[in-house]
Amino acid sequence: MSRAVIGVCVIGAGRAGMIHAGNFATAIPGACLAGLADPSQTAIKAAQARLPGAKAYADYRQALEDKQVNAVVVATPTQFHRQITIEAAQAGKHVLCEKPMAVNAGECQEMIAAADKHGVKLQIGFMRRFDAGFIAAKSRIELGQIGQVVLVKSLTHGPNVPKPWMYDIRKSNGPLAEVSSHDIDTLRWFTESEFEEVYAIAGNYRCEDARAQYPDFYDNFVMTVRLANGMQGLICGAQGVGYAYDARLEVLGTRGILLAGDLRQDSVTVCASGMDLTSSAVKSWWDLFAPAYACEARGFIDCIRADREPVVTGFDGLQAVKVVNAGNRSIVERRPVRLD
Ligand SMILES: NC(=O)c1ccc[n+]([C@@H]2O[C@H](COP(=O)([O-])OP(=O)(O)OC[C@H]3O[C@@H](n4cnc5c(N)ncnc54)[C@H](O)[C@@H]3O)[C@@H](O)[C@H]2O)c1
Repeated sequence: MSRAVIGVCVIGAGRAGMIHAGNFATAIPGACLAGLADPSQTAIKAAQARLPGAKAYADYRQALEDKQVNAVVVATPTQFHRQITIEAAQAGKHVLCEKPMAVNAGECQEMIAAADKHGVKLQIGFMRRFDAGFIAAKSRIELGQIGQVVLVKSLTHGPNVPKPWMYDIRKSNGPLAEVSSHDIDTLRWFTESEFEEVYAIAGNYRCEDARAQYPDFYDNFVMTVRLANGMQGLICGAQGVGYAYDARLEVLGTRGILLAGDLRQDSVTVCASGMDLTSSAVKSWWDLFAPAYACEARGFIDCIRADREPVVTGFDGLQAVKVVNAGNRSIVERRPVRLD
């Protein structure tokens, strides 16, 4: 690849897409925001208000025909990831695809095959792998500070109620996919192993409006995990908790324990007469992981320039989707499910 600036088009100008768009517009050396594609005029107007002058496409296929576009970020609802990624690869565009990679393993395999066939990079949006705190935690484990890893617990509780497109579990795979794909990837990363068996239970405790039309929808689950190398795992996921964005990790070893993540937004604690101790809670994932999203985007551009494997590959996305599907099956069939 020449040293020319890499033009990136963000496909899907919603919550995740606008984080990527903001980064590529201002913060990624050697790259620029080549445009935004979204069929929603409302989304495009809001995006252009935030990023004045950004080029807009009503159909992502127009962006794929544009020579100024060298790469795309796929940040649409999950059900469209497969089609857009395959078409982007066919058009010779590198792809950073948001998590969850797709709806099932077959779709992921088609995406990987398309990227391989057309010689483009395919990176998946597990930005926790670029987060300074998670990276520090992993290196402490590699240094042997807690001995051998025995149990990895990862939780993600989101403050907001799900977007309506997430209610249909057949299309979105529910909170296991939308919230806890990150936890699944964290377990694979920290155990350096694959999931062998999962047992999950779930229920809808907060989303009254989903109950009648989507009786399968759940907003809270817990999943126990047996890893292929004998380690244990536990993942808890929730949506609509309201109190904060809560993403924490606990790793129990043979000689100690490691805790990562914090409910507090910063290190400030206030104590005044007549008050309990107070701190600000983390409000959103986009604040908590803002530096990680920027590092993820830099990593994507670096792997294009250096022609090397992305830090998070299509295989990582595929393995997480397999676990999501096994977890959802476990919920429906009320039994432990083994992975291939
Ligand atoms: N990495 C993360 O931490 C993270 C955080 C949030 C969301 N996500 C993922 O990002 C994806 C989008 O989630 P979101 O919360 O931003 O959703 P959102 O509903 O806020 O935005 C989705 C946008 O995609 C647009 N869209 C729909 N179909 C499209 C198409 N065919 N072409 C172009 N645009 C289209 C919609 O109009 C909307 O503006 C999901 O896969 C989600 O899981 C990842």
